[in-house]
Amino acid sequence: MHGAALVMEGDAIAWVGEARAAPAADVSVDVGGRAVLPGWVDSHTHLLFAGDRSAEFEARMAGEPYAAGGIGVTVAATRAASDEALAANLDRLADEMLRGGTTAFETKTGYGLTVADELRSARLAGARADSVTFLGAHLVPEGSEPGDYLDLVTGDMLDAVEPHVDAVDVFCERGAFDESQSRRVLEAARARGLALRVHGNQLGPGPGVRLAVELRAASVDHVAFLDDDEVRMLAATWDGAAAGRRGTVATALPACDLSTRMPLAPARRLLDAGAVVAIATNCNPGTSYTTSMAFCVATAVLQMRLTIEEAVRAATLGGAIALGLDEPSTDRSGRALLPVGRIRPGARADVQVLDAPSVSHLAYRPGVPLVHAVWRAGARAF
Ligand code: NIG
Repeated sequence: MHGAALVMEGDAIAWVGEARAAPAADVSVDVGGRAVLPGWVDSHTHLLFAGDRSAEFEARMAGEPYAAGGIGVTVAATRAASDEALAANLDRLADEMLRGGTTAFETKTGYGLTVADELRSARLAGARADSVTFLGAHLVPEGSEPGDYLDLVTGDMLDAVEPHVDAVDVFCERGAFDESQSRRVLEAARARGLALRVHGNQLGPGPGVRLAVELRAASVDHVAFLDDDEVRMLAATWDGAAAGRRGTVATALPACDLSTRMPLAPARRLLDAGAVVAIATNCNPGTSYTTSMAFCVATAVLQMRLTIEEAVRAATLGGAIALGLDEPSTDRSGRALLPVGRIRPGARADVQVLDAPSVSHLAYRPGVPLVHAVWRAGARAF
């Protein structure tokens, strides 16, 4: 809409419409014809970590394939870090995200892999993230036997983190957890009423997507390797959407696909089939060390053949749907949460203004920092 205005009241959007019909407000800001859109909703990140894996990245760019084993390097650095160092790293990245227009995000544990370290990550995450996911099933840590480790993840570890998390995730991939191990983790989470997520079909074809669909996961993320049946299956999870039934969001992580030299997730095919797609950064030190949703959106348009509108929607409302934050909800302590991912009355006042006349500039001028101003929950972030 051209010539539009919106009114914020407290932390919510109170009114949206044509500027000439806008109600009076205490303070008004003229953004000078710039494009206004919802803040990004980054629905997949791993921000609780310490250390750097640029040497691994350089080796990969020189031809080494990515292997899940690199996670162990970050696990060692994370365990050795102080609480303060982990919190400072989380704050640094969350601030960077906000400057880039991201006003809501999920983050995962998964670089602790002991009860104490996973609990610490879950607690620290809750201080900044809109949604926290337990990823104890990221890798079997060195020195552990897989069966014993799964007993721990689905038992004591889950008991410890449960009050601090919204969802449980599993890395269902060769070199991490197979189908029956992943099923065990997801069923334990489902028994506790937690939302389910799956890292699936990232490094090759695999059972992750089918498992996510079967167990009605909120999202399956990566989805780089999908056959036509899996695409149809993901779309079919939304068949009952009109009746309020929620399906499984397919989350594309284009920066990760590029950084690991994997095929880009087939987001075009997914949308054409009727699936709900989210776009997220997967910010982590191993496979995708970026907080830039704008980069992911530009890649989705330029390389994955989404229209600008589709890519922006996937990076805002798509992420919100994946997190269950697209409608009014409550947090873990029962506090009411306003929906995110859309500019409409009643939504949380999360808005970004681009230094551009239209959102198409996100892909038309890729790589250019276009964020002019950001409001989160009605407060001007900068
Ligand atoms: O989403 N796939 C598993 N987890 C991360 C990678 C973590 C790492 O290599 O440190 C991901 O890509």
